[in-house]
Amino acid sequence: TSRRKFIWIASAASVGVLSVPVLPKLYNSITGGQRVSPHPLNKDFPADIDLEFTASPDQVQLLNGSKTNIYTYQTRILKAENASVDKLPGSYLGPVIRVKRGQNVRVRFKNQLPRESVIHWHGLHIPQEMDGHPMYAIDKGGEFVYEFTVNNRPGTYWFHPHPDKFTGPQVYYGLAGLFIVEGDEKGLPDGEYDVPLVIQDRKIDADNQLVYLDGGRMARMQGFLGDRILVNGQPDWNLDVKKGTYRLRILNGSNSRIYKLAWSDGSDIVAIGTDGGLLEKPVTRPYLMLSPGERIEIWKDFSSQNDGEEVQLKSLPFETGSPMGGGGMMGGMMGGGQQQTPNGTAFDLASFHVTSQTGVQKELPAAFAKHKTLSPSDAVNANNPRSFHFSFERMQWVINGETFEMMGVADWEKVKLNTTEVWEFINGGGSRGMGRMGNMMQMPHPVHLHGLQFRIIDRDVSGMNASVWESVKDGFVDQGWQDTFLLMPGMKVQAVMKFEDFTGIFVYHCHNLEHEDMGMMRNYEVIA
Ligand code: C2O
Ligand code: CU
Repeated sequence: TSRRKFIWIASAASVGVLSVPVLPKLYNSITGGQRVSPHPLNKDFPADIDLEFTASPDQVQLLNGSKTNIYTYQTRILKAENASVDKLPGSYLGPVIRVKRGQNVRVRFKNQLPRESVIHWHGLHIPQEMDGHPMYAIDKGGEFVYEFTVNNRPGTYWFHPHPDKFTGPQVYYGLAGLFIVEGDEKGLPDGEYDVPLVIQDRKIDADNQLVYLDGGRMARMQGFLGDRILVNGQPDWNLDVKKGTYRLRILNGSNSRIYKLAWSDGSDIVAIGTDGGLLEKPVTRPYLMLSPGERIEIWKDFSSQNDGEEVQLKSLPFETGSPMGGGGMMGGMMGGGQQQTPNGTAFDLASFHVTSQTGVQKELPAAFAKHKTLSPSDAVNANNPRSFHFSFERMQWVINGETFEMMGVADWEKVKLNTTEVWEFINGGGSRGMGRMGNMMQMPHPVHLHGLQFRIIDRDVSGMNASVWESVKDGFVDQGWQDTFLLMPGMKVQAVMKFEDFTGIFVYHCHNLEHEDMGMMRNYEVIA
């Protein structure tokens, strides 16, 4: 059947559906004057952690031969009280910031990149001005001082650039780090047993240089797909592990590739945390879907493994039902061989080498702390949720028919402070009689909201292609707090969220970074 789909795509292209020259125009337009002046240093801010990040081009020895040009956050630690700021071992990514809830963080961001940039603290609940909205981007040579109090649950968050239209390339070239809020839970693996994995796909040319979007317009539409996996910025990542228990904090830091995570030894995956921290209790799945921007924490006990055994974390094939790929089986075809492996096979992400050393073994807790409840019955619109169609219209990726406007907020994007709402996200359909076209051009969209964590309350798959659903259905963990989730073609997801503490403008968007850069992003505004 995949072969038949491929032929269908070819014929769609030949009738000109995919060849309208809209994208280059979108790509060339520059932000223009809609910027807000940068936040200066506040001497009275009681920083516990005080850092300087200089984003700049650099080079790294990634492979034998030529060094690879990358971007990196050069980091200087001015103060880190009861916190740590470390490089990811051997990596140009990072740093990994570990803080506690309630601590005050200052980051003096200096931009030495060739163009504007801004840092988004993905998942953190902080004010508009600190959140990294594109309107706060600073030009080369500029400085912006982030100062905020950490008030998120303990969990694995991250940070990356967010300038309008250029998030994809800046993340691609290496700007991404982890922001871990540490808790005081007992009984969890820690120290060397607490291991972050940032998974990204890249394409590297014969001279060891990163290649971004060499596939023309079509590649932009589907999003970048690399042919090589880097973990923590390193090719062929592997780790010697002891016979003990590990907590793996996994971030999908890829631009557009979705992974279907599974263990090579056939064991189930035990998830203990999602974007917004620990679950109430562990969840066991044969595999896990992880879309760009999402984090999942998994529990892995290597103690009963054999000496010298290699255990791989891999990505299994799945269907997207889309002519556009997006990490599934079709991605390889449309990407002109960009997929890591041929159609329909699994590929390795990371390899764990089990040594003969005995490590600390822990027992999987039956439960973690209870979550505070956020119930749809508290919502002001539970029976009439706001709906957001993520679809394709007028040769563009759109949300309810619209693309990003720097300051633009529609009536349907205004919410009241201190209210709870249900939002419904629909992949497909359309707002302007373009529904059919919209449905033909479906792709998975990882949906991300800034400024808060929400709970998924419903995943309606009645509009999905049955074999697509069949290939992903056991991979969702909807029992925890999320700031990003995978919205598959035809899927309808309801989430409940509370707008609290901060008024202001925050973005929500597709975290396929090419879709985001092409405008699949909008503002919502929290009004007093
Ligand atoms: Cu990680 Cu607005 O994104
Ligand atoms: Cu998308």
